[in-house]
Amino acid sequence: RGCKLVGCGSAVPSLQISNDDLAKIVDTSDEWISVRTGIRNRRVLSGKDSLNALAVDAARKALEMAEVDPIDVDLVLLCTSTPEDLFGSAPQIQKALGCKNNPLAYDITAACSGFVLGLVSAACYIRGGGFNNVLVIGADALSRYVDWTDRGTCILFGDAAGAVLVQACDGEEDGLFAFDMHSDGDGQRHLNASIKGNEVDHALGSNGSVLGFSPKISSYSCIQMNGKEVFRFACRAVPQSIESALEKAGLSGSSIDWLLLHQANQRIIDAVASRLEMPSERVISNLSNYGNTSAASIPLALDEAVRSGKVQAGHTIAAAGFGAGLTWGSAIVRW
Ligand code: ACO
Repeated sequence: RGCKLVGCGSAVPSLQISNDDLAKIVDTSDEWISVRTGIRNRRVLSGKDSLNALAVDAARKALEMAEVDPIDVDLVLLCTSTPEDLFGSAPQIQKALGCKNNPLAYDITAACSGFVLGLVSAACYIRGGGFNNVLVIGADALSRYVDWTDRGTCILFGDAAGAVLVQACDGEEDGLFAFDMHSDGDGQRHLNASIKGNEVDHALGSNGSVLGFSPKISSYSCIQMNGKEVFRFACRAVPQSIESALEKAGLSGSSIDWLLLHQANQRIIDAVASRLEMPSERVISNLSNYGNTSAASIPLALDEAVRSGKVQAGHTIAAAGFGAGLTWGSAIVRW
């Protein structure tokens, strides 16, 4: 029993913020941002925009491309670090899509590696669990957790959603060849958005019993990042991970049609491509328009590449995510 990608879709908010717009609120310039990151624009949720609505839109497009009715979906995996419900948003997406058989739906939190982890999970459910149609959605709204006065981070991120439908097939048609996944909690200090302390003040008696407490509403800090450390980590870990996944798949770099990395920084993409000796014509990049959209970036870039005719049926793609956790991983897949 194998599994294959049969549809993709994506959605972005309508509000676009350019580098020049950002230069009005922090001390930066279009030139600095473009040269250091490759980013020129990003889309940001505004007003009553909802991330769930973007995720539903992306998922519907993936189902339409696959010609699969929502009623036949038996698992919805929402890869996000910014859910609109702390308890998980996937069931709301499942309901809005009209998956009327109440299939399993839950969130996966692994920051910018979330989508690759979602693909791995989909493959495991299909191969070992008898599932047939698994929606993997990457959706994030990091704009809600950015410190808009911090020029080191606010220039990087955008909001978006992307989705693929992974479907069961015969083993010989299998299109998810190999994975390689890692995490390193030690690196969390370089990139995080952590809870702010203990938000309940206890008054303790002499024997340690609680005499009273005054609860407060908890909140998370804005994104804290040591950009240089994250940059070094990505340039070191991602090529190793892709090489390891290729080895597991029994493939060489020359048999890969497309390199599709998490869209964080063009200089990271170029460094990884160079290390893997992938010519720039075989590298997918759309971050100049959208910035770093976290778990959405890989399916968003894939969807654009498929709909523009760049990625065609039968092409092999090396996809890799990396980011907070720290987490990183690769998947070798056939479109
Ligand atoms: N505009 C102008 N100047 C700036 C800006 C800005 N937006 N940001 C920083 N600077 C200044 C700094 O203050 C510093 O000035 P100084 O030399 O006077 O001290 C100088 O530019 C250099 O700053 P660096 O931080 O060293 O710049 P660097 O070349 O490392 O680029 C960047 C910073 C773009 C953030 C880069 O480190 C990067 O992309 N890192 C990777 C981030 C990433 O990939 N994250 C992915 C995971 S995201 C997730 O998982 C949620």
